[in-house]
Amino acid sequence: MDTHYTNKLFDLNGQMAVVTGGAGVICASLCRTIATAGGKVAILDINRQAAEELAASINQSGGEAIPIGCDVSDKENIAVAAQQIISTFGTVDILINGAGGNNSQATTSTDLSFFDLPETALKWVIDLNLISAILSAQVFGKFMALQKKGIILNISSMNALRPLTRIPAYSAAKAAVSNFTQWLAVHMAQEYSPEIRVNAIAPGFFLTDQNRYLLFDEATGKLTARGQMILDHTPMERFGTPEDLAGTVLWLLSPASTFVSGIVVPVDGGFSAFSGV
Ligand SMILES: NC(=O)c1ccc[n+]([C@@H]2O[C@H](COP(=O)([O-])OP(=O)(O)OC[C@H]3O[C@@H](n4cnc5c(N)ncnc54)[C@H](O)[C@@H]3O)[C@@H](O)[C@H]2O)c1
Repeated sequence: MDTHYTNKLFDLNGQMAVVTGGAGVICASLCRTIATAGGKVAILDINRQAAEELAASINQSGGEAIPIGCDVSDKENIAVAAQQIISTFGTVDILINGAGGNNSQATTSTDLSFFDLPETALKWVIDLNLISAILSAQVFGKFMALQKKGIILNISSMNALRPLTRIPAYSAAKAAVSNFTQWLAVHMAQEYSPEIRVNAIAPGFFLTDQNRYLLFDEATGKLTARGQMILDHTPMERFGTPEDLAGTVLWLLSPASTFVSGIVVPVDGGFSAFSGV
């Protein structure tokens, strides 16, 4: 068997990847995956210290990463980060739009009805999940348009397929991220180069700091009714781990998927396939 050929399919050797929200639970794992596959990583995160710690850890393991403190809801801030990346690496081959998340003030509860969700919290969620992905694609996509080559990977969610209860802004924003993924895939291929690909992953339920309060009761440490219902509707009967995303992401970032653009891949333990019966 020609292992040289198969190894090359998933090789990221020399590729320069920008990962926004790169120090978070899911994206830190993706940064490590990229570095292990031979890629160089710029970790953009509003939490600069977490980005620095992750970069140091990747560099100690023989990878190549730089940390950049950056608020991706601010285009000027992204442009400054891009200049630093271009002057360090000379190019951007990959963008992962990983910054995202929900906010308890944009979540309905017994204390906070839909009618009272504050506008600031709703806008914060839409800005973080949707607008920041568009702004980052504008800044880094421009380099890809000039070099006529590049890969953009967005992070959507199960909420994009059918909205989950309680989190209207997050659901709407992620549905828009999936839609934007298709739009940008067509636009980049038609207007700039068929060698610019845009895809997304739609992770199922991964336990992170942002959703822990919804899935586990803080006082008892037991699953909440919502957490239990999620597991009941996940045929694999577990939450995902960030490592569960590695293979799918490596496929979408590498030459293994050269004719794949405009798709949103669920990585969800079967959640989206299960009708509940
Ligand atoms: N956890 C899940 O189950 C799940 C499921 C589906 C999709 N997602 C999506 O995956 C992505 C990563 O989620 P996670 O669960 O690892 O969350 P996380 O909170 O661990 O990571 C998010 C990271 O983004 C950073 N960030 C926040 N605002 C920022 C800003 N304005 N500019 C730059 N960085 C900013 C945070 O500091 C953090 O490091 C998000 O887009 C999330 O919506 C998560």
